[in-house]
Amino acid sequence: RRLLLVNGPNLNLLGTREPGIYGSDTLADVERLVTDAAAARGFEVRAMQSNHEGVIVDAIHAAREDCAGIVINPAGLSHTSVVLRDALAAVALPVAEIHISDVMQRESFRHHSYVTDVAVVHVIGEGVPGYARAVDLLVDVITGQAE
Ligand code: DQA
Repeated sequence: RRLLLVNGPNLNLLGTREPGIYGSDTLADVERLVTDAAAARGFEVRAMQSNHEGVIVDAIHAAREDCAGIVINPAGLSHTSVVLRDALAAVALPVAEIHISDVMQRESFRHHSYVTDVAVVHVIGEGVPGYARAVDLLVDVITGQAE
């Protein structure tokens, strides 16, 4: 069993990007954390990051073939992308939406996410460790321990 991990635009710069907001962990650290958290629950992870919306849409479509769920930090696309939302709704896999920062405490344009109501798990503002909690909560949903 496998999870798809998607990190959206600019998250390749984690660790150097606005460290006061996003911390000093890198994307590689995030991918390792998620891989370890998933392994502890018996899941493999396919990790991808892209700055290109269409590449992310293609990865979400491909997840239909071999993934049981999707952990996604949609980054700025959260606040702009009907396309991303439609892709997630189309594949009908359980989705965990994660944001490192507390978007509700930031600019008002970050308060709305198009992804929120197609996701079953939401982890917001818990920093990078939030990715591990998102994995746990999503696996609970997949394995029927919660909903
Ligand atoms: C983010 C929050 C978004 O508003 C922002 O555009 C990001 C990262 C977060 O993880 O806190 O790129 O998704």
